[in-house]
Amino acid sequence: SVVNFVFYESIIVMRSIINLRSIMLFILALLLAYGCQERADESRRDTATIVFKHGKMAGDPRSFRALLDRFEQENPGLRVRDETLPSSTDEQHQFYAINLQAKSRDFDVLSLDVIWVSAFARAGWIKDISHLITPGERQSFFPGPLEAVTFNDRVYAIPWYIDAGVLYYRKDLLEKYSLPVPRTWQELAATAREISSREKGIYGYLWQGRQYEGLVCNALEFIWSNGGEILEQGRPVINAPRNAEALTFMADLIGKYGVSPPLVTTATEEPTRELFGSGKAVFMRNWPYAWALYNRPGAVLRSKVGIAPLPSFPGHESASTLGGWQLGVNRYSPNPNAAEKLVRFLTSPESQKRLALAVGYNPARRALYKDPDLLREHPGIASLYAIFMKARPRPVTPYYLMITQVLQPEFSAAISEIKNPEAALASAQQQVSRILEMEQ
Ligand code: GLC
Repeated sequence: SVVNFVFYESIIVMRSIINLRSIMLFILALLLAYGCQERADESRRDTATIVFKHGKMAGDPRSFRALLDRFEQENPGLRVRDETLPSSTDEQHQFYAINLQAKSRDFDVLSLDVIWVSAFARAGWIKDISHLITPGERQSFFPGPLEAVTFNDRVYAIPWYIDAGVLYYRKDLLEKYSLPVPRTWQELAATAREISSREKGIYGYLWQGRQYEGLVCNALEFIWSNGGEILEQGRPVINAPRNAEALTFMADLIGKYGVSPPLVTTATEEPTRELFGSGKAVFMRNWPYAWALYNRPGAVLRSKVGIAPLPSFPGHESASTLGGWQLGVNRYSPNPNAAEKLVRFLTSPESQKRLALAVGYNPARRALYKDPDLLREHPGIASLYAIFMKARPRPVTPYYLMITQVLQPEFSAAISEIKNPEAALASAQQQVSRILEMEQ
């Protein structure tokens, strides 16, 4: 009967599904066994593949790979597989939070944003690698990154390259209109307005205002350069008139003055870097990596871009947020010794120099700022030294990630004129106070 036919038919289908499932399970088991064998502890092998996770690198990926090839040549038996995560620090953080929480053994070396190290160290996610740098050698790094990698007097990562917010300007346009490089934010707004109103299709000032970590970096530069603060001796001082003035100014750049296009409220580093690089803006705030890309042979703006410290509000000092990346070892890595070798290699003076020449990432080691080859290739590096020495860290505390989660939506609402700055700051103050009360 039809009923019987359907019944037997479905049993056959079920069987083949079950068979297919068991074959697939078998293959999966084989793959897993192979994977485990490959990632077995290093004491049982003399070869290893080190998995190195890092954010997307600027420029041609081959130049970075050349550095890893060199490591392989110097260390027979060791291979490096580098695996790229998105360039956004927030997305990278999410990846690590999920995988390290689950004690993942799938990667050995990781590149850490300057704001994560203390939190990762406190969570027990990265190895104490104090033995890799002597106390004497520690002084050869810039003070900001050195502070960032130290937790309870132990070192948990080695500074790899350093970042600080800088002002990019079009030398050719400022010359054409005989205008100086602005020193105050008000001057910047006036100059940006004057030039962009006369040059067709050119924006005044680009910066990063999307709701993400980069927005906090930008906002802090306005706040600090108006004499404001976020924490003072560990206590939140967010709800303050100086901070409100700074946020109001950011919103006015877009609204009242019209010198920043509304697109900045959704922009991150790369889109602003590309827009400015295609010749579409007078000024831009960004990290120094863009410089090398603008001066590549054939680049539209080659030799037309200048770098300067960010402006400040009148009577206050310019402030740059400290950024940058450090290398650490996954606590659950099956290859800790090989991983430490790679960290040592990539953070050595030679590798930091190569990275600067190839990709334009600035060394975290101070002595390289006197290196003749580097000075020849990237003359701007000399003026960056002073900016890096003074760059201001975001609060160095394991709670920073919770603090920034509060600041991001509040700052975003304020600059988009969804909330008035005073209300945004009052709400941030209240939430951060609660976090710090609970955690301390
Ligand atoms: C850069 C900086 C990093 C910062 C991030 C924000 O990658 O090096 O410290 O957190 O930008 O977008």
